[in-house]
Amino acid sequence: MTNLSDTGGNPRIGTALTSGATKALMLGSGELGKEVVIAFQRLGVETIAVDRYANAPAMQVAHRSHVIDMTDAAEVRRVIEAEKPDFVVPEIEALATEALVAVDEEGLAEVIPTARAVALTMNREGIRKLAAEELGLPCSPYAFASSLDEVRAASREVGFPCVIKPVMSSSGKGQSVVRSIEELDGAWQYAVEGGRVRNERVIVEGFVDFDYEITLLTVRVYDAERGKVVTRFCEPIGHRQSDGDYVESWQPQAMSQAAYDAATSVAGRITTALGDGGTGGRGVFGVELFVKGDDVYFSEVSPRPHDTGLVTLGSQRLSEFELHARAILGLPVDTSLMSPAASAVIYGTKDSSSVAFDSVSRALDVPESDLRLFGKPEGYAKRRLGVAVATADTVEVARANAAEAAGRVVVVDSADPFQQGAPETTAVPIQRPQPPLDDPST
Ligand SMILES: Nc1ncnc2c1ncn2[C@@H]1O[C@H](COP(=O)(O)OP(=O)(O)O)[C@@H](O)[C@H]1O
Ligand SMILES: [Mg+2]
Repeated sequence: MTNLSDTGGNPRIGTALTSGATKALMLGSGELGKEVVIAFQRLGVETIAVDRYANAPAMQVAHRSHVIDMTDAAEVRRVIEAEKPDFVVPEIEALATEALVAVDEEGLAEVIPTARAVALTMNREGIRKLAAEELGLPCSPYAFASSLDEVRAASREVGFPCVIKPVMSSSGKGQSVVRSIEELDGAWQYAVEGGRVRNERVIVEGFVDFDYEITLLTVRVYDAERGKVVTRFCEPIGHRQSDGDYVESWQPQAMSQAAYDAATSVAGRITTALGDGGTGGRGVFGVELFVKGDDVYFSEVSPRPHDTGLVTLGSQRLSEFELHARAILGLPVDTSLMSPAASAVIYGTKDSSSVAFDSVSRALDVPESDLRLFGKPEGYAKRRLGVAVATADTVEVARANAAEAAGRVVVVDSADPFQQGAPETTAVPIQRPQPPLDDPST
């Protein structure tokens, strides 16, 4: 385990697959983990990818992989003891966090950002109480409930409209907006069924009629000169959610100076509180905030790269994944924006065990566009299978072009004989950036 203060901010990186290798073990191997693994690989780090199914995206680029039940503390412990990583890097929320607390306490590996942060953020109750009650951060009104009667009482306290969510869920699962007392019963049932584990506890949150919502990527990084962990911010990312899942994101999101100052203050305080006061707690955090006028409300925080931050693959000099790898290793970071950009999600359309993508070349004809196809072995309706990223001179053009590129990709099942090739589509005019100077049309 690295002790950053001992290295004077000059940590050694061993070479993968040698006896002195620096090793990172990913708990969760989805598309975000895949990019983190690629970032580690570029720095010569040995990578181990873990997930509950084989051939997960990050497994396809890691040195080794393990398929385990990550909610089983004994299995998580076993794989960490066998691999002896320097860093355990959680990529998802649904983990046996008690195993991580033990690993951390016994000094077996450094849990990123800290075992406590991972445990607190996997449950809405832990993080909301820390944010609102301990730190006094602005949040919508809220109450917790463990029965329909308690939900009724909570909604009287919070008022309508309100949002009901299982305390343990992600991607909007089990979450609904309730506008009247009659809708409470259905929302309670939906939440109980939609939770990650069968846990009949929900948060009832006041609905925030925000102007826009952002993810403020916040990086906690060791500063060698000052001999301590400091906070760096990326430009705010705007995004649009549908059914609790992100559909598109863009960077930068324009904000008033007052709202920006409030946002960085909230993000700085919550991420500092998730640290350990020493050299731990390093890495990228996705701080989710609602903005109305100059007012900012804390919503939640991921102690890891955020899905809406996929846009940074195009917009920043270092993507959020590269920032995460560097911060974990104790290296300096650069959070600067290179260009406005946007991302748009490519979804699966139906169950398939041989997903294929048609019209990829048409998608990449869109100016300044790029794609990530995640390599998920199974597709189903609404599963995130890829993302289009586009840069442009303005966020508006970037958004239009990312959406156009994503829309041009046709998801098919290569085993389906009736679905060979892309259907003929009518060309949609796309927004082009300034033509180059030697363009004959100018
Ligand atoms: N209190 C709220 N007021 C208004 N919109 C909300 C509220 N809570 C959640 N949402 C909307 O639902 C999305 C998902 O909610 P979130 O709490 O982030 O759940 P998840 O953990 O599933 O991402 C948010 O990004 C926001 O668009
Ligand atoms: Mg969220």
